[in-house]
Amino acid sequence: MAGSGNHRILLTGATGFVGCHLARSLVADNADLHVIVREGSEISRLGQIRDRITLHFHDGTTEGMAGIVADAAPKLVFHLASLFLSEHRIEDVERLVSSNILFSSQLLEAMARADVRLLVNTGTSWQHYEGKSYSPVNLYAATKQAFEAIIQYYVETAGIRVVTLKLFDTYGPDDWRPKLFKLLRNIVESGAPLAMSPGEQLLDLVYIDDATAAFVVAADRLLSGTVNDHERYAVSSGSPLRLREIVAAFGKVLGSEIPIQWGGRPYRTREVMATWKGPVLPGWAPKVSLAEGLQRMVAYSSSSKQERG
Ligand SMILES: NC(=O)c1ccc[n+]([C@@H]2O[C@H](COP(=O)([O-])OP(=O)(O)OC[C@H]3O[C@@H](n4cnc5c(N)ncnc54)[C@H](OP(=O)(O)O)[C@@H]3O)[C@@H](O)[C@H]2O)c1
Repeated sequence: MAGSGNHRILLTGATGFVGCHLARSLVADNADLHVIVREGSEISRLGQIRDRITLHFHDGTTEGMAGIVADAAPKLVFHLASLFLSEHRIEDVERLVSSNILFSSQLLEAMARADVRLLVNTGTSWQHYEGKSYSPVNLYAATKQAFEAIIQYYVETAGIRVVTLKLFDTYGPDDWRPKLFKLLRNIVESGAPLAMSPGEQLLDLVYIDDATAAFVVAADRLLSGTVNDHERYAVSSGSPLRLREIVAAFGKVLGSEIPIQWGGRPYRTREVMATWKGPVLPGWAPKVSLAEGLQRMVAYSSSSKQERG
């Protein structure tokens, strides 16, 4: 980030996939990085940068959050913490609201009280089912939209300036999340064919380094004083592909046929067949093609397998 070495930065969600990579890139850029975690957070995921950042443990209360933000006194906050569930059960409602609305609102209240004015927030393309200005794919996406409504209050009353980055799918090395590529690797290793939908849905995959670069560009935009209220941008590859095409591309990089039984199960309810086209973040463009990104991901896991012996 231009001049991030001069600024203190606060990050939520640093133990998540995107947050972890963003934290590493900020530390590499010599940022004075503070992160908010909670009891039970997988701090080991921060790996070698653990000693170069300041950890703050949130106890779940608004007062606790106010204390953290006042102590850290950051110039800018990156808010990535969130609970993602593609489908929820009855017992998930409280967790979704707690992580995605309560925790996020506590953060804004604490920022307003500590005179911290700049926020990069994280949304999802799934707030835009069928390309609509608002139509949530699921309850998770609805909680992201609810938080955007709360942001408006703090923009108007506390002068907080916000850039919300709406992510599509991200992928890259060191991804423990139970997502597509992990599933495909498991199939290849087991050799047992997997029943999937017909596979005609479009997916927009952004390589992790490109995704974290978007956060840095958004932060620079806020730090330069360009943002007057709340801006929202899509972090899109610009070239969505059908699931079938992505699986074929991954098989090519792995050098093996991936045994899929296409059409062996129906599409999900509210399956996202076409991707949303949102405004692109000025000054940002993805640099890593899917072929290159997949190669990097596979090379990384081969080298870490070798290191583990
Ligand atoms: N990755 C994608 O493809 C994608 C797509 C669209 C949108 N997004 C958005 O991008 C952001 C990052 O995604 P990700 O895939 O990196 O997420 P992730 O791997 O699922 O990690 C979630 C992070 O949020 C933290 N968190 C959740 N609830 C919390 C709470 N109540 N208090 C404190 N921390 C809490 C987790 O901390 P613990 O270690 O304590 O659990 C973890 O650090 C999220 O806002 C997500 O909604 C991601």
